[in-house]
Amino acid sequence: LSDKPLAGRRILITAGPTREAVDPVRYVSNHSSGRMGFAIAQAALRLGAEAELVHGPVSLPPVLGAQMTAVTCAEKMQAACLALWPRCDAAVMTAAVADFRPESAPTSKIKKQPGQERMTLELTRNPDILAAVCAARRPGQVVMGFAAETDDLLANAQAKLARKGCDLLAANDVSDTRIGFGSERNRITLLAPGAEPQAWPEMDKETLAEKLLLALAQRWDAA
Ligand code: C5P
Repeated sequence: LSDKPLAGRRILITAGPTREAVDPVRYVSNHSSGRMGFAIAQAALRLGAEAELVHGPVSLPPVLGAQMTAVTCAEKMQAACLALWPRCDAAVMTAAVADFRPESAPTSKIKKQPGQERMTLELTRNPDILAAVCAARRPGQVVMGFAAETDDLLANAQAKLARKGCDLLAANDVSDTRIGFGSERNRITLLAPGAEPQAWPEMDKETLAEKLLLALAQRWDAA
């Protein structure tokens, strides 16, 4: 077996949170560290591929050798991904994209009024980047999504796999705080349409990243 099984391939990876502006000084975001996506990009390079890493605001060192595209909000992340996607062979979408964004972000700072005790933030749905990438896929392009769930992991992940239209879905149970968000280790169940779910043991994110990419490579080989 070659030690560069992904040679000649280009992989699009999304990572980290998105940051949705409320006004020029405030935003809505989440606690995603970006570690899983950065580990995937690193593993892709190790396995001989080129990596297009589109990431939200993270505090991680850049992945040397990867093409890094830094974005803030979901709309910018989607635009970057759709521009890169035609030149890529696979996409691995690990970003924790904000589901909603403030409907309109004023260009001036929102001021509290004297005596004001409440304020309402109107949110609107963000684009689903994974679904958009799946919809724009041409034959031979493979797409892997991630699902973080706290309840009914398998049922929710199966539904997500079908709804988004991806080839592979890595589902992890984020109710277990030792693993997942921000941690060094992770445990996932890998789902594919028409196949039995594979529950993988807990492992560090580097090993997991390699195994996920090898599972993805099998899809090209099977095609
Ligand atoms: O629907 P949910 O957010 O749980 O789906 C998770 C998967 O979809 C992840 O792979 C995530 O990167 C991707 N996603 C996306 N754009 C969104 C929401 C999720 O690419 N707006």
